[in-house]
Amino acid sequence: MDKFVIQGGARLVGEVTASGAKNAALPILAATLLSAAPQRLLGVPNVRDVVTMRHLLTEIGALITGDVVGDIVQVKQIVRCEAPYEEVKTMRAAILVLGPLLARCGEAHVSLPGGCAIGARPVGLHLAALQRMGAEITLEHGTIHAKARRLTGAVIDFEQVTVTGTQNVMMAATLAQGTTVIRNAAREPEGVDLANFLIGCGAKITGAGSSEIEIEGVPSLGGASHTIIPDRIEAATFAIAGAITGGDLLVRDVLPDQMQGVLDLLRSLGFQIDVESNAIRVRAGRTRRSGNFSTAPYPGVPTDVQPQMMALLSQMPGLSTLRETIFDGRFSQVPELVRMGADIGIEGDHAKITGATPLSGAKVMASDLRAGAALVVAGLAAEGETEIARVYHIDRGYASLEGKLASVGAHIRRVAA
Ligand code: UD1
Repeated sequence: MDKFVIQGGARLVGEVTASGAKNAALPILAATLLSAAPQRLLGVPNVRDVVTMRHLLTEIGALITGDVVGDIVQVKQIVRCEAPYEEVKTMRAAILVLGPLLARCGEAHVSLPGGCAIGARPVGLHLAALQRMGAEITLEHGTIHAKARRLTGAVIDFEQVTVTGTQNVMMAATLAQGTTVIRNAAREPEGVDLANFLIGCGAKITGAGSSEIEIEGVPSLGGASHTIIPDRIEAATFAIAGAITGGDLLVRDVLPDQMQGVLDLLRSLGFQIDVESNAIRVRAGRTRRSGNFSTAPYPGVPTDVQPQMMALLSQMPGLSTLRETIFDGRFSQVPELVRMGADIGIEGDHAKITGATPLSGAKVMASDLRAGAALVVAGLAAEGETEIARVYHIDRGYASLEGKLASVGAHIRRVAA
């Protein structure tokens, strides 16, 4: 179990590049199960969740070869329509193989997912939607068993926006008999990227990126070559890290249009944000101000940026407030930030952050992926040494976070425990 050791106080200056988006790579990798043809995927990030997904696909029957350019994935035959507990316990996104497996081989057995310990995170909406498409679903011993000779198109009206739920239905519907309409669909860019990949394979999908998506089923899908979009959550983490250190950071290979919510919020806190076609520059402004925000589905401020933003708000003068509307209990970073000197009070889904209180380095523990990123952000601004345990949570979603931050001046190193 590796640790990060950070000597706080160094300004981040220079250029850093975002990787491909984890949350686009995962559904697109799962979608390769829908076709027997080879797929070429470029820009797949080197993060632990991707390693887990690759391993799961290999168990299912995929042949994955990689070169410097990208992954080539081919699933000529499904040898096992199953995602066992050992494979999925660390990664909730393993639920993404449910729709493709069911559509391709008529059955799927997927262990209920683990993953980040944030709230209850059920998958009932995924299951109800697949049932509407004709699947028979039972739950036994912690495993979802789904069967359908051929799924049929249906109108799926999600009562709540669900990102992977929308993606599961979209994938399943590509091979269903007839047309599926998803209402109240997630509009996240990663879902659009998935749709674009599927369209490249021959799927008929319209409306991705809007709240109503239509998918006309086709008998089979072919192959495609696809480049994964940049990771807007990783890019936002860098922007926040640059901001908290009063640095001057250029984050390259991003799509700024997909980061509006975060960039507007940083501007409202007093930071200077310059946007280029595929880069953002973050600099300290004349003053720092407190701020308020609620997390929201796209295009709002993502819940996956909330913990890092909270760390930054602790360094803004005055009272800041935030509301977490997506996940119950996504505040596991708070006790650790408080141990480092932040003044944060929680009431239900609200957090009150009184700043700026000086942060001091401490021994802390990452409890999930983004909570871990928040501790890194805090450690960069803290006086003295911060030691972050359980870095494996951070490795699930960041490709060499310490290497990239060190390249722009952070004093951070990984220590093998
Ligand atoms: C995805 C992202 C995750 C992000 C989240 C919200 C991936 C791989 N993961 O997770 O990083 O934090 O979107 O942007 O893309 N819900 C139900 N029933 C369901 C499904 C969801 O009640 O069947 C609830 C959840 O408990 C939560 C909300 O809906 O309160 C949103 O969850 P959802 O959008 O499904 O998150 P994920 O797709 O798991």
